[in-house]
Amino acid sequence: MQRIAFIGAGGITFAHKKAFLQHPSQLSVAGIADPNLDAATKLAAELGKGIPVFADYKEMLASIKDRMDGVVITTPHFLHLPMASDVLNSGLPALVEKPVCCNTEELRLLHSLEKPGALCSSRTNATLRSRRELD
Ligand SMILES: NC(=O)c1ccc[n+]([C@@H]2O[C@H](COP(=O)([O-])OP(=O)(O)OC[C@H]3O[C@@H](n4cnc5c(N)ncnc54)[C@H](O)[C@@H]3O)[C@@H](O)[C@H]2O)c1
Repeated sequence: MQRIAFIGAGGITFAHKKAFLQHPSQLSVAGIADPNLDAATKLAAELGKGIPVFADYKEMLASIKDRMDGVVITTPHFLHLPMASDVLNSGLPALVEKPVCCNTEELRLLHSLEKPGALCSSRTNATLRSRRELD
């Protein structure tokens, strides 16, 4: 069972939600962080019972990191770099919605933090191709 937390509870989580609902024996939701607590609470109710919600993702990382195996980041683009950096620095892997970040400079920074396999994005796109070229 992989215990996955969400940072961001907006529109694109409908796509991730499907995977969790289709594979309940393999995936569970450890927690959901979004300053929009109504959105976080709604998503939590759709995905299971007793899923903790947080207004601040840093508080979620500090509180339940030991109960998480990975984090899905589904926030606006400009937040991907700081959030993925915090997740990777905490030792957890991150799946980041596309685009993984905003420019090559950010990508280099993110790449420098990454342990192999710890960062992926939801689609192979131009940004990720550029990332491979950094190697
Ligand atoms: N909607 C789509 O079809 C789609 C498709 C592909 C990729 N994406 C990508 O997914 C990402 C999110 O898109 P979306 O459509 O879900 O946007 P959205 O605006 O519907 O949702 C973003 C969520 O992030 C939350 N958020 C903002 N600041 C936060 C913070 N500090 N901590 C935690 N949560 C915070 C917002 O409250 C909101 O609930 C974007 O990078 C977008 O490019 C979206």
